[in-house]
Amino acid sequence: MTSAPLAAVTGAEGFIGSHLTEALVASGHRVRAMVQYNSFSSYGWLETLPAEVLDQVEIVLGDVRDPGSVRALAEGADAVYHLAALIAIPYSYQAPHSYVDTNITGTLNVLEAVRALDVPRLVHTSTSETYGTARTVPITEDHPIHTQSPYAASKAGADRLADSYHASFDTPVVTLRPFNTYGPRQSMRAVIPTVIGQVASGARTITLGDLRPTRDFTFVEDTARAFLAVGTAPAEAVVGRTFNAGTGGEISVGELVRLIAKVMDADLDVREDAQRIRPAGSEVMRLVADASRLRAATGWAPGYDLEQGLARTAEFFRDPAHLARYKTGIYNV
Ligand SMILES: NC(=O)c1ccc[n+]([C@@H]2O[C@H](COP(=O)([O-])OP(=O)(O)OC[C@H]3O[C@@H](n4cnc5c(N)ncnc54)[C@H](O)[C@@H]3O)[C@@H](O)[C@H]2O)c1
Repeated sequence: MTSAPLAAVTGAEGFIGSHLTEALVASGHRVRAMVQYNSFSSYGWLETLPAEVLDQVEIVLGDVRDPGSVRALAEGADAVYHLAALIAIPYSYQAPHSYVDTNITGTLNVLEAVRALDVPRLVHTSTSETYGTARTVPITEDHPIHTQSPYAASKAGADRLADSYHASFDTPVVTLRPFNTYGPRQSMRAVIPTVIGQVASGARTITLGDLRPTRDFTFVEDTARAFLAVGTAPAEAVVGRTFNAGTGGEISVGELVRLIAKVMDADLDVREDAQRIRPAGSEVMRLVADASRLRAATGWAPGYDLEQGLARTAEFFRDPAHLARYKTGIYNV
């Protein structure tokens, strides 16, 4: 009898990582899940997964900034999925050193562990933010990199390290570059949970930043399937390459609020909040994905359109037990 393949996941307790953990288990993997060490012994969103999923998950507390804990995570793994990162753009204005430590040094530690232990596949996580405001649309992987925030710069730095490990050492890295992802469990730092969470908690005047930027929003279960697709595809199809994951759809924040109002059947007033407006040169005004490379290499295609995904997200936030985990009344940096 062959045993199930072992996937090691960093950032497993987070938004996308918890959905990826579920998707990996559903597709027959065992998961070794790194949860960032904390004094509350909190396992984040992993605590909410069903027992039959958790039966296949080994939770280890650790930190990607620590080479030893990354190496222990990767030992014996068939693939490493590296999602751990500091991700908030506004907080990257306040604490840029911590972004370099976590996103760049953390990725270096993952690359070193994968290289030393001969792990057969590493999926490294990039972000569409590395492109900056689109110069041509839809954005292909050949679009120039233009980093408009310390967050984007730290992710681009990590991407370059990943590329260099493939070029220098043949490290079997594939880089997935998700566009904006949304869905159940997302933190209130992002726009969709900010709006849906405020509406679910009874507010009808919604406080937001700039309403003009456009984004390509992908439902989190589709993003998780994209990770799985590049993590399990034949090496010759994906290793050494970067893949966008996005729907190709585009909507402004202002239009998005109107769509959420429709999905949640609520009349909404929107108030712009000065503290949420980003410095002009830092706001990415337009992002829309061309994911045809991913589709050609793996067959991946999104399963949810925006309205369907928003309905699933609204259902999650309307559950009082879920809403109780959030602070809807403050600006979550
Ligand atoms: N959410 C999006 O729209 C989006 C879009 C593109 C790319 N991404 C990327 O996807 C990945 C996951 O993002 P997410 O949206 O799930 O965010 P998230 O904040 O929910 O998840 C990040 C996880 O990393 C963990 N982490 C942070 N510092 C750590 C450290 N030092 N050691 C170990 N773990 C640490 C956090 O505890 C958290 O669980 C990130 O790499 C992010 O850059 C996200």
